[in-house]
Amino acid sequence: MLKTIELLLKDIELFAPKDKEDLEFFRLKFLGKKGEIVGLFNKFKEIEPENKKKFGQAINKLKAAAEAKVEFFKGSFETVCSLEKIDLTKPVSLDSFGSRHPISIIRGQILNIFSRVGFSVSEGPEIEDDWHNFSALNLPKEHPARDMQDTFFVQTNPDKLLRTHTSSVQVRYMEKENPPIRIVSPGRVYRNEAISSRAHCIFHQVEGLYIDEKISFADLKQMIFYFAKELFGKKTKIRLRPSYFPFTEPSAEVDVSCNICNANGCGVCKNSGYLEILGCGMVDPNVLKNCGIDHKKYSGYAFGMGIERIAMLKYGINDLRLFFENDLRFLKQFSSI
Ligand code: DAH
Repeated sequence: MLKTIELLLKDIELFAPKDKEDLEFFRLKFLGKKGEIVGLFNKFKEIEPENKKKFGQAINKLKAAAEAKVEFFKGSFETVCSLEKIDLTKPVSLDSFGSRHPISIIRGQILNIFSRVGFSVSEGPEIEDDWHNFSALNLPKEHPARDMQDTFFVQTNPDKLLRTHTSSVQVRYMEKENPPIRIVSPGRVYRNEAISSRAHCIFHQVEGLYIDEKISFADLKQMIFYFAKELFGKKTKIRLRPSYFPFTEPSAEVDVSCNICNANGCGVCKNSGYLEILGCGMVDPNVLKNCGIDHKKYSGYAFGMGIERIAMLKYGINDLRLFFENDLRFLKQFSSI
């Protein structure tokens, strides 16, 4: 008798109905009034008392399996049938659209602006070595400018670190490729900063690099001007202030006119009329040499910007931490519709 139950159980397991009728046939065969399971219960009286428990458990298991099968497939045929009742001409509800993260939106806009003038995207690793993050960029060991970027080192290997900027990608690219080079490199960077509304230990940058023959500071200025107008609007003005970065000479920091007050002065630009957006300069010949590029024949410019900073300026966000908290009330405001 137990053997018969076992065989019926196998049948149930293997069963897959073609249609509603097939399923109904299965239901009657096993669960109907004259079905297999009722038949087995009827034989219960004939079982010797010591086997009753085992037998009873086996029939119950069989019954549960048959019921589960019917339940499982019942739903699928019902959906097909109820399709007839759905109004397919009804407009789709737009309520539940997701939204992209503001960092992704701004990153996309920046890359798009540069791709329109011939830049391609090149990415590099987040765990870097000392050479690509520092030494090749004219920041040898013990150089005081290393302190500008407080670094997370990998404990088991002092040569490995979490990259402090995406400038490391320009080194990797120049080592592999010959000029002309036109790349933008977006990515996550890490610094050992105390977390506050203005600083975080993780943030995002986009690095840019242009190397060719006879590239001058005027080319850099024109490109930044084009970029600023595309990103912040046609009326945007730019201002270059002399600065220092070890990997560029000369170097500059770029401000854009505040588009909230039209450069007249407001709370956002702290009454200065201008907001800082990036650092840039002409690539130092030492960097070209370190990467195997002929610095007598080629010159070029590089620039680097923080995506969070630009997103804060564009959307009027005053706390950097909001980008990392994944609070839906914040994120939903950047809905893609
Ligand atoms: N790497 C710099 C930083 O993280 C940003 C930067 C400044 C990049 C000037 C450049 C540059 O390519 O020319 O602060």
